[in-house]
Amino acid sequence: MRRSEEIGRAEAHSGPDGADVAVDWLALRRAAGQVASRAYAPYSGLRVGAAGLCGDGQVVIGCNVENASFGLTLCAECGLVSTLVAGGHRHLVALSVLSGDGRPLTPCGRCRQVLMEHAGPEMLLDAGEGKAAQRLGDLLPGAFDSSELARAGAQKAVARRQTASTGTARSAGRKRSR
Ligand code: THU
Repeated sequence: MRRSEEIGRAEAHSGPDGADVAVDWLALRRAAGQVASRAYAPYSGLRVGAAGLCGDGQVVIGCNVENASFGLTLCAECGLVSTLVAGGHRHLVALSVLSGDGRPLTPCGRCRQVLMEHAGPEMLLDAGEGKAAQRLGDLLPGAFDSSELARAGAQKAVARRQTASTGTARSAGRKRSR
């Protein structure tokens, strides 16, 4: 793994902590291509490699790992996010996903959701040489996030309080009628 200062300052991008992180797309593409060659894809034949730049300047990688069950296949981006979290790294600020033959790929819907939690809408996705990178927020507008759970938690607490107070009123009424 190399720090962003070592891979050159091709493009400055603000991470979630506000710090500028240099995005060296060439280095990310090289890393994505290398890990794609190690992908385990005997069923689809589509090797996928992903390389992401974290807010702390570290580069994390992942490749797809298929399974004879098909449904248990792990996408390259999920492997990358797992490495990011396990390594204690910061949010992703830029990502390159490449097929084994070097074509830029767009993450599937599930991966966009997984990435959103560990990158946020400002993460840049490589669209290939000479093309403008895409924002994750543009690829997954209106993403589900933990604020929905907080809202559900608050509603649950209100419902619990209501049940407790009506329950108390009911038992008080029973005592009075005895
Ligand atoms: N794949 C990924 O690794 N990432 C994606 O975002 C989409 C699909 C993999 C899964 C499977 O091994 C192969 O590509 C064909 O779907």
